[in-house]
Formats: sequence, C-alpha cells, structure tokens
Amino acid sequence: MMSRQRPFRSVTRSKATAQASYDRLSRYYDWLAASERPFREAGAHLLRVQPGEQVLELGCGTGTVLPPLQQAAAPGQVIGLDLSAGMLQVAQRRLGFPVAFVQADAAQLPFAAARFDAVLMSFTLELFDTPEIPVVLAEVRRVLGKNGRFATVTLAQQNSFAVRLYEWFHDKLPNWVDCRPIPTDALLAEAGFHIVTHQRRKLWGLPVDIILAQTHA
Ligand SMILES: C[S@@+](CC[C@H](N)C(=O)[O-])C[C@H]1O[C@@H](n2cnc3c(N)ncnc32)[C@H](O)[C@@H]1O
Repeated sequence: MMSRQRPFRSVTRSKATAQASYDRLSRYYDWLAASERPFREAGAHLLRVQPGEQVLELGCGTGTVLPPLQQAAAPGQVIGLDLSAGMLQVAQRRLGFPVAFVQADAAQLPFAAARFDAVLMSFTLELFDTPEIPVVLAEVRRVLGKNGRFATVTLAQQNSFAVRLYEWFHDKLPNWVDCRPIPTDALLAEAGFHIVTHQRRKLWGLPVDIILAQTHA
C-alpha cells in the first residue's frame, strides 16, 4: 500500500493550469528539455517495438521520440497523446510521419481495452497527484490488455541532498519545477505490473528511473 512508502509530494496545480503552462512552454520546450532526451530515448528503446505493433506515448510533448517509434512499428500505428494543444502542435509540425495525435488527459484514455501493444510515458507520471497515479496506471493496463509492455522514465525518490534541494524548488515553484520524484517501481507493482528491467541513471545529479514493466498474461 502507498502508506508503506516514503511520502512524496502532492500536486496542487489544476490540469487547466498545467495545460496552460505547457502551451506557453511549447515553443521553447525542445531547448529547455534537451538534456532529458537520452533518457526518453532509453525508455523508448526498452519497448523494442516490432513491425505492425500499436504504440501509444502518453504525455508525448513535442514528440521527439515518436519518429523512431513509428519507424519501428510500421505498418502499425503510433499515437501521441498530450493534454497540451501547444505541445501537440509543435509535434505535429515536426513530424513528417503518419503519427496520430490526440489531445486528452492520460487519466481518462479515449481508447478501447487492449488497443495497444506498448505504451511509453516519459517525465509525465510525476505530474499526476498521488491519488491519481493509480488511476493513470489502471488506464494504461486497460488499454494494454494482456502481455502489454509499459516503459516509464521518471524522476526517482532518494534520500540525497540533490533530491531534497530539488523538492524544495518544487515546493516553491510548482509550476516551473513541476515533475516531482516518485517511487515508480512500487507504484507499478501496486498497480499489478510486473517489472522486467529497472535502470537508474543520473540527470544533473538527480536519479532517474527507466523501467520496463509488463501486464500479466
Ligand atoms: C515534462 S513534459 C514531458 C514531455 C515528453 N514526454 C518528454 O519526455 O520530453 C510533460 C508532458 O505531459 C503533458 N501532460 C501534463 N499533464 C497531462 C495529462 N493529465 N494528460 C496528458 N498529458 C499531460 C504535458 O503537456 C507535457 O507535454
């Protein structure tokens, strides 16, 4: 249960505020998040997408990892979903690929059960308030069905000076320092996922978990 874990920050901003914030950031986002790119790519790589598969990226942002996913999945389909119309517009402009885009909330996925073979979520699960994370993970399980693969890239919890300093900034500037560290492996296990691989890397001294999980057969 969540009460056994080290408590993690709650999210107080509304979805409308989050959406407006990413709409504003969208034009500069690639520049702002350039250092995160290798982490996103590592998450996408873990999915080992095969020709003909159906793939979903939740919180796809400006879509930097969608082209390689689409290349691997062809003739299957890749869908990028995001709350922010601004981020989706940037993604749409850059992609000459047949990627489909959907503006929606990842907590309420507008897809049928077992629609996808693989789902990616990079630096996005941390944006949901604590009670909503299991809701998002249940939605991912629903759209994956049996034997689905789910790759997550998230800021990780750790009792270190760097993480405490980062959390201090998150508390003071929640609209700017918005991703907060979460215990993704425990959350995935609680949501009924089986962890296949778990890497931990450092980004500006902060721990990042890159996890491949699977739904049960
Ligand atoms: C920190 S960015 C990460 C973008 C991209 N995945 C990456 O790794 O660069 C978070 C993304 O999640 C989107 N987002 C925030 N809340 C969301 C929600 N409730 N449902 C879907 N997307 C959401 C934001 O608009 C933004 O594009």
